[in-house]
Amino acid sequence: MGRVDWLLSKMTLQEKVGQLNLVTAGQVVTGPSGSGDVMANVRAGTVGGVFNIWGREPVAVLQRAAVEESRLGVPLFFGLDVLHGFKTIFPSPLAEAGAFDPLLWEETARAAAEEAASEGIDLTFAPMLDICRDSRWGRIVEGPGEDPLVGAKFAQAKIRGFQGAGLSSSVALAATAKHFCGGGAAQAGRDYAAIDMSDRELHETYLPPFAAAVAAGCAAVMPAFNSLAGIPLTAHGALVTGWLREKRGFDGVVVSDYTAIAELVEHGVAADEVEAAALALKAGVDMDMVSGCYLRLPEALSRGLVAEADIDAAARRVLALKEKLGLLDDPYLRLAPARAPRKTWSELALDAARRSIVLLMNRDALPLDANIRRLAVVGPLADARAEMLGPWSAAGDPAKAVTTLDALRATWTQGDVLHHRGVDIDGGDASGIGAARALCETADAIVLCLGESAGMSGEAASRAMPGLPGRQRELAEAALSAGPPVVLVLSSGRPLMIADLIERAAAVVASWQLGDRTGDAIADVLLGRFNPSGRLAVTWPRDVGQIPLHYAQRSTGRPPQSTDPFTSKYLDLPNDPLFHFGYGLSFASVSLKNLRATPEEFDDAPVRIEVEASNDGKVATEATIFLFLHDAVASVARPVMELKEWAKVALAPGEARTVSFLLDRSHFQFLDRTLEPVVEAGDFDVRVGLDADSRSALETRIRLRGPTLAADRPSDAITDVPG
Ligand code: BGC
Repeated sequence: MGRVDWLLSKMTLQEKVGQLNLVTAGQVVTGPSGSGDVMANVRAGTVGGVFNIWGREPVAVLQRAAVEESRLGVPLFFGLDVLHGFKTIFPSPLAEAGAFDPLLWEETARAAAEEAASEGIDLTFAPMLDICRDSRWGRIVEGPGEDPLVGAKFAQAKIRGFQGAGLSSSVALAATAKHFCGGGAAQAGRDYAAIDMSDRELHETYLPPFAAAVAAGCAAVMPAFNSLAGIPLTAHGALVTGWLREKRGFDGVVVSDYTAIAELVEHGVAADEVEAAALALKAGVDMDMVSGCYLRLPEALSRGLVAEADIDAAARRVLALKEKLGLLDDPYLRLAPARAPRKTWSELALDAARRSIVLLMNRDALPLDANIRRLAVVGPLADARAEMLGPWSAAGDPAKAVTTLDALRATWTQGDVLHHRGVDIDGGDASGIGAARALCETADAIVLCLGESAGMSGEAASRAMPGLPGRQRELAEAALSAGPPVVLVLSSGRPLMIADLIERAAAVVASWQLGDRTGDAIADVLLGRFNPSGRLAVTWPRDVGQIPLHYAQRSTGRPPQSTDPFTSKYLDLPNDPLFHFGYGLSFASVSLKNLRATPEEFDDAPVRIEVEASNDGKVATEATIFLFLHDAVASVARPVMELKEWAKVALAPGEARTVSFLLDRSHFQFLDRTLEPVVEAGDFDVRVGLDADSRSALETRIRLRGPTLAADRPSDAITDVPG
């Protein structure tokens, strides 16, 4: 008998359900209620894991109580939301997704895992893999953006990074793919709201990142708070057990979200917490985060709502995770002597921050001119240390964060840096606007730092009107009419809908929330020390009324035509976004030509797509080249464009390079009318561009010959994404 089964055989029913109980210890607060006397419960053997606590001493104290004072001495595991860094904070996930760089995604996760593991953390509640096409939803900041392929590659890279060479390593964290699934489509962008979508949408768009996460070996999965077509995900047996475990072969731990099991009562699918516990357990949820309902499973057993075998199966999975994490061999594995922070992590944070910045507009205002003598750095985000880290900044230290003002003052030597915050991020006080404007009038150029506080995105941070909060718009008007050119630097966790202001600025930089080195990275871009290479991982709408807006819209029988009113469009806004998915400028100018496919007609062989990319500018640059497919005629109307591959290419000034992509059958498959994967013969339009704007993409048509074939693997599993 293995150790796990041996332990299980020794456990009382109460100890078994204790393993399923995940409690919060409260070093940070990430939900509405706490977990009572954690120490007493650990000693009683009714706690399986603890989260929101870190540091060698606090963790060791609890672990010692579990190992030395509970009857069987089963070690705890310790969890934390390490999404984009532990103490060293990297860019928020949505920002980092825009680097379109799986190696970078992996590297930052690796660094975060090493740092967190050295302070006792065993498991992270990350990566967050919610595809999202609605920037009202505050949690859009936590995930990879709007595209399932990006989401799948992001999932794999993050899981490789967090889990490293293997879970038993003292520097690995178990990863938790969350929130399973569809939370990014919560109705009207309201957090926790119901989700209602077609099965096709679910399988084509929202599940692929989770399939990729399972294929990458993620240790845990967390169901979303929401209900999907009336069934709360916490009680969704068809998805949690059916799809995740049985279809995808997931064999790890399913951990509920914060009090989500108790919330089944509020959802109206359970009469009381005992029923709620039974529903979740039966659906395949192993661990109960904070609600305490699973401690009442013995009552569910006596009411006949669950079988002891269900409890055993969940407890076995939790114990198996502890074994994989090396905790049964050494409960103190991740409590090695504290290491001094590694300089390379901070350098990596700078590198990641720079590569996540998206230059949205530039009318020759950037890099800032060498003749500028007086630079006005204005706005509430210019020197707002605490806002630079973004939400879910774990054990990050806002005092360490570098602001734009800090970095410009430290490194801009050609004249004076003047500063006025003008207004607060939020609130009604406009009394500083006059002075800020007066300062702007005396300057040669203005860096206007506007946007959101860190708490305006993330959980419980939906915004019906994601524009500039408080009196910032008035400050923007004042700066834009002061005379000198305005470089608008936008700090936010989502695209901000301020098209009119963006169009009037001389340059616009989306700086998201970039972590510890935010200001350094922004200054490097403003001063031309770094040539921006970030791209939008999410379409940037003109206005809220366009939401949900994303590039992969499904075809319609009446595609928009300017001359025909009876086509799919608005009377009062264009269909086009302000900035397309994949968009981002640099200080160079890249052009694409000579798109060719070899062969143009093919049976089963891979087809090679080549394009020539040239840097027509005067500085070295890194271009991101996207390949989209459109299935011209299929048994199901397909999106007008679907991202199938992308490549990044470094180009010296004047250099041209051929970029090539290889498409195999899997690139052409989709779900047929019965949601079974299929590859259908016929014509496909290949579009290759610098973003998802089909008007500027190069296009060629290729033909897949031969019979329609069932695909060899499901379309909702993008499992072979290259690293
Ligand atoms: C969030 C999760 C998070 C958990 C633990 C919840 O409120 O939805 O994403 O992992 O809290 O902090």
